[in-house]
Amino acid sequence: MPYLVAPAIPAGALAATGQPTLPVAGGALLRPWLLTDAAAVREAFEDPAIQRWHMRRADSVAEARGWIEAWQSEWASETGAHWALVDAESDTLWGRVALKSFALRDGTAEIAYWTVPSARGRGLCPGAAAVVTRWALHERGFHRVELEHSTANHASCRVAVKAGFVAEGIRRGAWLHADGRHDVHLHARVRSPRPGPSGGGPAATGAG
Ligand SMILES: CC(C)(COP(=O)(O)OP(=O)(O)OC[C@H]1O[C@@H](n2cnc3c(N)ncnc32)[C@H](O)[C@@H]1OP(=O)(O)O)[C@@H](O)C(=O)NCCC(=O)NCCS
Repeated sequence: MPYLVAPAIPAGALAATGQPTLPVAGGALLRPWLLTDAAAVREAFEDPAIQRWHMRRADSVAEARGWIEAWQSEWASETGAHWALVDAESDTLWGRVALKSFALRDGTAEIAYWTVPSARGRGLCPGAAAVVTRWALHERGFHRVELEHSTANHASCRVAVKAGFVAEGIRRGAWLHADGRHDVHLHARVRSPRPGPSGGGPAATGAG
C-alpha cells in the first residue's frame, strides 16, 4: 500500500555519503569507529558506571571488536551513526556518541553516549552531543533527536540539559536494570530555523 507522505529523509540519501568526522570544543574529535579501538572499548566497559547504565560488560577485545563491526555496519544500512569521541591530537579514546534507531520516514533518531572516567567533568559529552545533534538536524534532514536516561542517572540528565534537550516526560518503569525497573526521563531537540553565525548553541526552547 503506497504511503501518502514523502519520507523526511529519502532512503539511500545518508549511505550515499561517508560518515563525517566532526570537531568538538575542548580538543576533541568525533570520528567513525576503527576496529583498532576495540581494546580501548573493552577497557571502558570495565568502568562500573558504564556497566551500570549501559547494562553490559565486555569480556574480551574480540567481543568489543564485534560491537564496533555492528556500529560500523549501521551507517551502510541507514539504521544508525556511531562515533568514537577522541583526543584530536593523540587519538586517545575519550568516549562514544551515537545516533541510533533511525526512523527515516519520520526523520527521528535517538542519541546515546558515554565517556571514560578520565575524560569526565569537562563538558565533553554535552559538547559532543550538541555537535552530533546539530549535524543531524541541520545537515542531514532529521527533525527530532530523542535522549533517554534513567531518572536515577543525574550526570546523564545534566548532559541532556547542557546539550539543549528539553524534558518531555517520564516513561514509568520502562527499563529493566540489574537492580530492577527504572523510570526513564525523555528529552528531545526538535529542528528549528538554522542558528545564526554565532554558532547557535542549544536554544533554551530545545529547538535544534
Ligand atoms: C554521563 C556522562 C556521559 C557525562 O559525561 P561528561 O563528559 O563527564 O559530562 P559533563 O562534564 O558535562 O558532566 C556531566 C555531569 O557529570 C557529573 N560529573 C562531573 N564531574 C564528574 C566526574 N569526574 N566523574 C563523574 N561524574 C562527574 C556532574 O553531575 C556533571 O554535571 P554538572 O556539570 O552540572 O556538575 C559520563 O559521566 C558517563 O559516561 N557516565 C557513565 C555512563 C552513562 O551514564 N551514560 C549515559 C547513559 S544514559
